[in-house]
Amino acid sequence: MREPFYRSLEHLLPWPATAKPLDAAGVFGRHAPLELEIGPGNGEYLAAMAAERSAHDFLAVELLWGRVKKCLRKLGGARLTNARLVCGNIGPVLAYLVPPRSLHAVHTLFPCPWPGDAAGAHRLYRADFLRLVNSRLVDGGRVTLVTDNRPYFDWVLEQLPGTGFDGRTHAVGADYGTKFERKWVGGGQERFHRLDLVKTEHQDLPLSPEVPMRSHVLSGFDPGAFQLPHRVLSGSGADPEIDAVTGGVTRVVGRELLYDPARRQGLVRMVVVEPGLSQELWIEIAGMADGRFRVAPARACHALLTDGVQLAVDAVAQAAGLAVVGGAQVDEVPSVL
Ligand SMILES: C[S@@+](CC[C@H](N)C(=O)[O-])C[C@H]1O[C@@H](n2cnc3c(N)ncnc32)[C@H](O)[C@@H]1O
Repeated sequence: MREPFYRSLEHLLPWPATAKPLDAAGVFGRHAPLELEIGPGNGEYLAAMAAERSAHDFLAVELLWGRVKKCLRKLGGARLTNARLVCGNIGPVLAYLVPPRSLHAVHTLFPCPWPGDAAGAHRLYRADFLRLVNSRLVDGGRVTLVTDNRPYFDWVLEQLPGTGFDGRTHAVGADYGTKFERKWVGGGQERFHRLDLVKTEHQDLPLSPEVPMRSHVLSGFDPGAFQLPHRVLSGSGADPEIDAVTGGVTRVVGRELLYDPARRQGLVRMVVVEPGLSQELWIEIAGMADGRFRVAPARACHALLTDGVQLAVDAVAQAAGLAVVGGAQVDEVPSVL
């Protein structure tokens, strides 16, 4: 029989469905210092830290589901009760989920160096990300970053001024036992670069709030005439530094419409890309008892409710309104979500 990829989902914290801000004491069932690992990969270091420091709790955030499954397997196999895993992008997870002054330490081993990305569109530890990490750390909280890549290391050092950290650099050996460390050791590298940061000055970045959704009510809907929407909104202005890199563009693109005529239920799959965040979600066009249709984020879809998601709802409602036989009428109503 084929072995399962993970033993259980008990260590997974579903994001973004988790209540915000994160209630770590509720999740772990105790009050303990909370540490974060960014990009745990296969989870070797996460499992080792959690086993070694049983009086601390550990949260890890990993972008790729394939790697999350491997982490779940490690944590499940070791029966660790003090570690949880989020599958997601660390920027939005810190911004929307993790409350200010809640982390005692942050660990990042061998983050992707993205050679040539000096503007930092993809690199972790750009100055604005350092300020966000700082805001989520307790006073005196620590960050450890280890990399094999000297140009990336030097770039991170350039980002430090004004982020509220004091930094120390060290040359270290292969001390962490992770997959990527083994990869570089296998390629002949013996020395790595470690940066230890201590929070000296708090950066005030409050938790980002989700946006209350407005849904739309249509007088009718003709799925045969529906054309998938594609909208671009430029210059969000929410964060000038992010805007400088991404152009501040929010883009919503319709991928497909599924429609069940018997139930008068439609689902539109939308991709929503906005500064620092990209999501794929379903928006429903749901037939109501009075013959009209309601357009809103689909129930059980668990998107992070942002301005971009509202733009997607508006775009679907407008496209569906154009696909109304006998003239469109679109009313806005607060969403029940
Ligand atoms: C080069 S690997 C290192 C993995 C592991 N730390 C190790 O040493 O083997 C970088 C990891 O960071 C994850 N990652 C990259 N960007 C991320 C982000 N924005 N949020 C969360 N994880 C991220 C990648 O998916 C990958 O697993």
